[in-house]
Amino acid sequence: MLETNVCGVHFKNPLMLAAGIMGSTASSMNWILKSGAAGVVSKSFSLKPHSGYHNPTTVSVDGGIINAIGLSNPGVDNFKEELMKINRENNVVIASIYGATPDEFETLVCEINDIVDMIELNISCPHAMEGYGASIGQDCNLSHKIVSASKDAAEVPVIAKLTPNVTDITEIAKTCEDAGADALSLINTLGPGMKINIDVAKPVLSNKFGGMSGKAIKPIAVSNVYSVFEAVDIPLIGVGGIYNFEDVVEFIFAGASAVQIGTAIMDKGVDVFSTINDDLEVFMKTKGYGSIDEMIGLAHGGD
Ligand SMILES: Cc1cc2nc3c(=O)[nH]c(=O)nc-3n(C[C@H](O)[C@H](O)[C@H](O)COP(=O)(O)O)c2cc1C
Repeated sequence: MLETNVCGVHFKNPLMLAAGIMGSTASSMNWILKSGAAGVVSKSFSLKPHSGYHNPTTVSVDGGIINAIGLSNPGVDNFKEELMKINRENNVVIASIYGATPDEFETLVCEINDIVDMIELNISCPHAMEGYGASIGQDCNLSHKIVSASKDAAEVPVIAKLTPNVTDITEIAKTCEDAGADALSLINTLGPGMKINIDVAKPVLSNKFGGMSGKAIKPIAVSNVYSVFEAVDIPLIGVGGIYNFEDVVEFIFAGASAVQIGTAIMDKGVDVFSTINDDLEVFMKTKGYGSIDEMIGLAHGGD
């Protein structure tokens, strides 16, 4: 009853792990899968290792957290070893990659084609070092080049992950669709945001600015999914502030075929996946929905 399909890839339920939270090792991703997620997205990685920013890199605020990790990762050679140890049986493994140029993305795609089920292009991190991250996803021309270079090299479906930090998210969504993206995930963190330590009169994060995630960004994520659903024909994966089954239903009604969960794991633990699956099934039975498919986009049309 809970199964769904994203551009031909079967998910046994609509829940997956969002990039960057518990996605650095095979053991943590296998734990998430055992806890009820149908898929996992790895932490974003690049060709070469990156150390990211100094601590503090995350801070709690009302409604969520602000982070500026700086896309720290051990590089593709090391990351491949983790990806190969993830249990792919009846699970979907998605690698999140980032780079600065179309060539870097293309090389990364070639490195991992054989060991994952889908590839998510992180063109949307708001606190990445110069040239990486949201500066790509805010530029239609560069996004087009990166998505099409990745698609040319890819043997598995390619998802472009969008930033909400733009004037009109539908423009970049349409650009990524034109460039050949098989699906879109949205949204990456919102911002930049800042928290100031009033005892020392300084921003808390070492990078000063960071991206906001958690409950507070959900209404923005839902509205972005709703708008993008009306602008493109490829499937959408909703992400941003999902804590319970009601949140998942909102995203599906807005147009998402599946969803990703990140910050809620820090508050609720890994059981969030099984709890949502159980509650979602009860909701569907109570309301008479027979499949996720028949619920997608129901909030559209009719006045
Ligand atoms: C600590 C942290 C690290 C993150 N790292 C990544 C990352 O490496 N790549 C990426 O695409 N998104 C990253 N994100 C963004 C999440 O995948 C997600 O888009 C965002 O947090 C909104 O979802 P949430 O409210 O469920 O956390 C990160 C988020 C957090 C909180």
